[in-house]
Amino acid sequence: MRDPYLQAMGIEQWVRREPHLHQSDVAEEKHDVPVKVLPAVAESSAEAVTPIPVMELSPTQSRQSHNVDGLDWSGLESRVSECRICDLHATRTHTVFGMGDRNADWMIIGEAPGADEDKQGEPFVGRAGELLTAMLQAMKLRREQVYITNILKCRPPQNRDPSQDEIRCCQPYLHRQIELLRPKVILAVGRIAAQSLLERDETMKAMRGQRFEYADTGIPVVVTYHPAYLLRSPTEKRKSWQDLQFALRRFAEQGGRS
Ligand code: URA
Repeated sequence: MRDPYLQAMGIEQWVRREPHLHQSDVAEEKHDVPVKVLPAVAESSAEAVTPIPVMELSPTQSRQSHNVDGLDWSGLESRVSECRICDLHATRTHTVFGMGDRNADWMIIGEAPGADEDKQGEPFVGRAGELLTAMLQAMKLRREQVYITNILKCRPPQNRDPSQDEIRCCQPYLHRQIELLRPKVILAVGRIAAQSLLERDETMKAMRGQRFEYADTGIPVVVTYHPAYLLRSPTEKRKSWQDLQFALRRFAEQGGRS
């Protein structure tokens, strides 16, 4: 039964009406009628290939040591909380390190904290976070069972896209988190997360459904839409459900049990 999963993600369900029940149904009986009609949303930037701007490292950035090899979870978390390597430290309220089970099989990687996350210091706590929770629920996973983090640990002002430089500065933190967690599957949500993790510059369309691995670790990476994009384009939720099912298959291939 997949309907409860689709429902959990808020996917519109199409119901075939029984013909000739009521006169008032006659106008609709030729068609499958959506339970709820939602406005069509234009393709978002999630599908576009916007090059991430490249900047040179500032003197502050090149002065600071950035070796996190050998740090354990708490050492890494405190290093992140003190980080001043890129300019985002000046505008952040809190760093957002990540949260969840540090022995999880599943790692969910988003783009960067937004306003709510910056305020609370936790990833995916806003509306996009609610949808992410529903996506996990559709996969029979609870938030506490997975580990959730972002490419960037600080919020870019006005939620602008992260720059290449910011991504590069934050990359060792994420890499160490992946080393410590050694998840069975990484779910990259959104174009920026997917492109940064995989070091590719393809569209979401090109990356979805492909069998990627993170660096040379053998850890499968599955690409799906960012929940914020799905909030703007709910009709894409069906495709996202296909991605989640693909992720579950890759998880099973790794010996994971749902
Ligand atoms: N969007 C993200 O990519 N990450 C968050 O933590 C919140 C919103």
